[in-house]
Amino acid sequence: MNFELTEDQLAIKMAARDFAENEIAPTQIERDKEAKFPYEIVKKMGELGFMGMMVAPEWGGAGMDTISYVCAMEEISKVDASVGVIMSVNNSLVCFGIEKWGSDFLKDKYLKPLASGQKLGAFCLSEPEAGSDATAQKTTAVKDGDFYVLNGMKNWITNGTTADYYFMQAMTNPELGYKGISTFIVEKEMAGVETGVKEDKLGIRGSDTCSIGLNNVRVPKENLIGEEGQGFKFAMETLNGGRIGIASQALGIAQASLEAATKYSKQRKAFDAPIANLQAIQFKLADMAVNVDAARLLILQAAKLKDDKQKYIKEAAMAKLFASKVAVDCALEAIQIHGGYGYVREYLVERYLRDAKITEIYEGTSEIQRIVIARELLKA
Ligand code: CAA
Repeated sequence: MNFELTEDQLAIKMAARDFAENEIAPTQIERDKEAKFPYEIVKKMGELGFMGMMVAPEWGGAGMDTISYVCAMEEISKVDASVGVIMSVNNSLVCFGIEKWGSDFLKDKYLKPLASGQKLGAFCLSEPEAGSDATAQKTTAVKDGDFYVLNGMKNWITNGTTADYYFMQAMTNPELGYKGISTFIVEKEMAGVETGVKEDKLGIRGSDTCSIGLNNVRVPKENLIGEEGQGFKFAMETLNGGRIGIASQALGIAQASLEAATKYSKQRKAFDAPIANLQAIQFKLADMAVNVDAARLLILQAAKLKDDKQKYIKEAAMAKLFASKVAVDCALEAIQIHGGYGYVREYLVERYLRDAKITEIYEGTSEIQRIVIARELLKA
């Protein structure tokens, strides 16, 4: 596989870097401290094409490939992983599925505003008793004339209070187990949708996460995506791409940790010389750099397979499993290199650790990624 970026991909990476440094960096500290959602930044990202990067231009997107997307995700998340996850969910978990399986009516009504950044989306699969065991859905959708009536509770929904539209899973036929799950587009403004209180999180505090209650929500039958019973397949296939996005978010955090640690080690003096002269520090930097590059290569491999329309389930899970561990490890090492300064909020590395941890949990825990990888290996 050739991983050299084309001129266009490189230009997108640089545009994302400029945007992140000029527009996202200045407010990153207050966003983390005050758990503030970056409304203005998300709006500008929409105008620049970052919210529907892989969607075809006819449906309001930027028509780019997955490699460009992972490059942009890394650069944005390197500066602020909260902004990264908002972007990742809208692109990978919402726009992707509507474009792939939605009717032209749904694409016109929902995908165009989502992909052009006028509206924001959220992905609703998890429930209080259906996290890793995603097949255990309790939310129901009962047909009633030209509507489905939805009842249930969704948990841990990224963009939960800020999204306009939800890519929602619900059971249309509970007797069939996961083959009875269907996908709907639900609007936040529909009667009976209740967003819960924003979770007070350890990290990615600029993104909002909440539960969503559905109380007799009447959803027009046109808002069913595909056919009844296809929802679990849609959710799993969507998550395969989502995992590439989260792996890129993790990579951004790891790269930021490496750069912060390298810079600090050249400035900080101990024993009459910069600590970068010490082998103890050099070994840490070297290990971080190897892991960061290895994570990037795994991500590019998964992205390339997706762009080439080949199977990428295993490779996406491998990229997420590895990159998320690298993010946590690199953030920890960056703190260690900063010593006491790394443990206080004055430096950014303590936030990198808080932001990194979630990448080992959402869009499938590391344990789930291992299950996915092993099952794919054993199928071969
Ligand atoms: N890609 C495509 N299809 C998949 C798949 C994948 N990665 N994983 C499972 N499937 C398919 C299987 O092939 C099977 O279909 P068939 O019967 O047609 O063959 C069906 O799904 C059921 O799969 P299993 O029999 O393997 O079911 P299981 O219950 O043993 O395991 C699981 C399923 C892999 C554990 C799955 O439930 C899973 O991935 N769980 C994790 C869920 C998850 O990632 N949640 C994240 C929440 S979203 C989030 O975090 C978003 C956010 O806001 C940031």
